[in-house]
Amino acid sequence: MGPQSGPQAHPAGDRRFGGSAAHGGRAKLPAVIDPLPATATDEERREHYAIVRRELTALLDGEDDDVAAMATIVCELNHAFAYFDWTGFYRVVAPRMLAVGPYQGGHGCLRIPFERGVCGAAARTRQTQLVPDVHAFADHIACSSTTRSEIVVPVCARSSELVAVLDVDSDLPAAFTDVDRIELEAICVELGARYSSTS
Ligand code: SME
Repeated sequence: MGPQSGPQAHPAGDRRFGGSAAHGGRAKLPAVIDPLPATATDEERREHYAIVRRELTALLDGEDDDVAAMATIVCELNHAFAYFDWTGFYRVVAPRMLAVGPYQGGHGCLRIPFERGVCGAAARTRQTQLVPDVHAFADHIACSSTTRSEIVVPVCARSSELVAVLDVDSDLPAAFTDVDRIELEAICVELGARYSSTS
């Protein structure tokens, strides 16, 4: 099975995920996960997310720092899916205001009010926004001219307070399916449950 043929993880020979273990380089290296292409079937996507989520569980075991967790999630996702061209969080930093980071990819807009863009729509409604064609979404904020489709998933704390949104942009049209939505929502539920404080 090659990089284009489906999910695969193998012990790290290269050091793409940072070259050291999650905690101080004492444990084993994180697995290297071959990037899944957008041509993957929903079943292949499901299997791939299962691998990524197992890896995230191992990496985040015992970690209680919000930024470390978010940075690790965006790193893993951005490397594991070939169609993820920008992957990042926008955190709630003031009433009805989002600020970028952590993220991987080109420059993101630094601040997005709840009233603007796909991210703002996700923050306002607390509903995932799956946008197959960003040019058809009137209020889309173009941080990159190459972006064609986008998914934004809210992250809520245990108290149900919105703490952030996860934004993934693709240079391919209609890159995300319902499987991406379900799996990214599950990752965000776990994040919100583990890192539930906004104060
Ligand atoms: N497209 C987003 C803005 C964030 S960037 O794409 C990184 C939006 O419309 O909210």
